[in-house]
Amino acid sequence: MEIVHTISALKVLLSPFKKAKSKVALVPTMGALHKGHRSLIEIAQQQAEIVVCSIFVNPTQFTDPKDLEKYPRPLEHDIKMLEDARCNIVFMPTVKEMYPLFPNIENWHIDLGSAEFLLEGEFRKGHYQGVTQIVKKLFDAVNPAVAFFGQKDFQQVLMIKNMVKFFNLNVEIISCPIIREEDGLAMSSRNIHLSVTDKKNALVLSKALHYVKNHISEINLADVLANAKRMINTTDGVELDYFTIVDGDTLMPITNRITENSVVLVAAKVGKTRLIDNMLLA
Ligand code: PAF
Repeated sequence: MEIVHTISALKVLLSPFKKAKSKVALVPTMGALHKGHRSLIEIAQQQAEIVVCSIFVNPTQFTDPKDLEKYPRPLEHDIKMLEDARCNIVFMPTVKEMYPLFPNIENWHIDLGSAEFLLEGEFRKGHYQGVTQIVKKLFDAVNPAVAFFGQKDFQQVLMIKNMVKFFNLNVEIISCPIIREEDGLAMSSRNIHLSVTDKKNALVLSKALHYVKNHISEINLADVLANAKRMINTTDGVELDYFTIVDGDTLMPITNRITENSVVLVAAKVGKTRLIDNMLLA
């Protein structure tokens, strides 16, 4: 496994593979890798010949500077995990490498559609501008044929697909299934901030999503939603931001019948940690 820190070194490393027309995949991450990331690498390996994993804690996507500061950075653990997973190349740039003008802000604003401002967009203003800004820079650096993202960040995948459309990029975006702990908790780098009690309380999120999935065909939509929200609102230490069933392309709430691409999404603060999760309803 090769580890590089600069775009120029990355390009040198990739150049023979590009010449040989090998299929290159990118798995962008912010590190603090867990089994969810490992599954992204494994899926990428099935679909491409060379897998590049980037580790970069992107400052422009954090709305709260404290969040950026306390973002976990267990580098040794991450490198070991990628080595075990037989990842080919790790790209670990500095902030200056990705944002040469930093701390000055680079101009970036693109039209991601109205879904940018819904759900996470309401709670984390500007977040998806920052996400798409760095993902575009990573795409420019790696020039992958395909890139893999976790479905847990459902809205993020949609925003990245919209960014790809905006620039008419030649990269396929693949959304990979959520990986859960045995008890149902969706794997997330943020889970390390959960206390034992938080972890127990957080289980209500996946339980409520399962409840919706299992009952949506029997009970009317408004009642299913009300019951699921009640489950969460009556759990100690959990403060709900949203729990909603939406169309997976527009993120507009479904009020009548669920469709092929309906998805139920939740965001809540569990103790001091904000968690998101979702489930496809088709
Ligand atoms: O999902 C993440 O880890 C990040 O948002 C991403 C896609 C790597 C961009 O920084």
